[in-house]
Amino acid sequence: MYTTRWIAPSNIAIVKYWGKFDHQIPANPSLSFTLTHSHTDTKLTVIESKTTQNDDPTLEVFYDGISKPEFQPKILKFLQAILNEYPWLKGKLLKIETKNTFPHSSGIASSASGMAALACCIEDLHATYFVGQPFRWHKASESARLGSGSACRSVYGGFVQWGHSSDGEGSDFFATPVQEVHPNFKTIYDYILILDSGEKSVSSTVGHSLMKNHPYASHRFKQGKENTVKLKAILKTGDWSRFIELMESEALTLHAMMMTSTPPFILMKPKTLEAIQKIWQFRQTTNLPIGFTLDAGANLHLIFTADALEAVEQKLLPEVQYLCEQNTIIKDLIGRGPFKAD
Ligand code: PMV
Repeated sequence: MYTTRWIAPSNIAIVKYWGKFDHQIPANPSLSFTLTHSHTDTKLTVIESKTTQNDDPTLEVFYDGISKPEFQPKILKFLQAILNEYPWLKGKLLKIETKNTFPHSSGIASSASGMAALACCIEDLHATYFVGQPFRWHKASESARLGSGSACRSVYGGFVQWGHSSDGEGSDFFATPVQEVHPNFKTIYDYILILDSGEKSVSSTVGHSLMKNHPYASHRFKQGKENTVKLKAILKTGDWSRFIELMESEALTLHAMMMTSTPPFILMKPKTLEAIQKIWQFRQTTNLPIGFTLDAGANLHLIFTADALEAVEQKLLPEVQYLCEQNTIIKDLIGRGPFKAD
């Protein structure tokens, strides 16, 4: 019996991944930062079983101590995709005990942190017990990608790129950390306004597939490529106003792609627009570096630096908190990435 436990945080994309080819190859590069508090904690126990070496692994999945057989198909599909890399998984019984620090449907990607945590557990057991070699972060990232595209970015801390960009950096197969980041971006907050916690009307999987015959797809993929290179230059120079301009354009473009898909769909809610107006008004009157981004959902991510923290807490939150379900705001910030728990 072998066991390990990893904690992996979720991430928030500034340049968005939306549209993919077979085997989870992104149509354009993306760039995110990894969070701290919003994470998945996963314990993996591998048990010898009576099935043969050629069989798929069998699973027992517990979420917060409760058995969740409904999680099995997605995890099994993920394991099947990485069996070539980790052939020792064949014929084993895997007990997965997992939990998140954030609520389901909160606008924080639980698939990103969940798949990153599981991929780190598997790479750790591989390195420690099955081959006796150092932990390979890029392999953990590559596996996580096969579970959920954006999960590959959660294997690293700080700002992280996934997808090959025209400056010759990055890979479509795994994520890589962005090396040069100006001190202006070393502490960066993400306050998530929970405006709607309901189930999304269209899943990310369907959204990605609707980019296949999308009239604006080729332009969007070109823009995503350009914005990845532009964002790295911004991160290097520390230019906050250009950061916000690019981030908000990416968020609104993502939702514009949804609205112009066939069939079209809208994931923003009236409260999302109301909160955006409040943020824009606040920025105009205070001139503080505060902006927003959106994932594939209605909840708004308020992004700002340490310079704006006091003003956000004291002046902006009272103006937007009433829009949130049960006044819920999840307060997070950039973090160092996954780690092995004791
Ligand atoms: O990793 P997926 O398939 O859940 O897609 C994530 C897509 C966005 O969150 C909208 C953007 C991104 O790059 O994270």
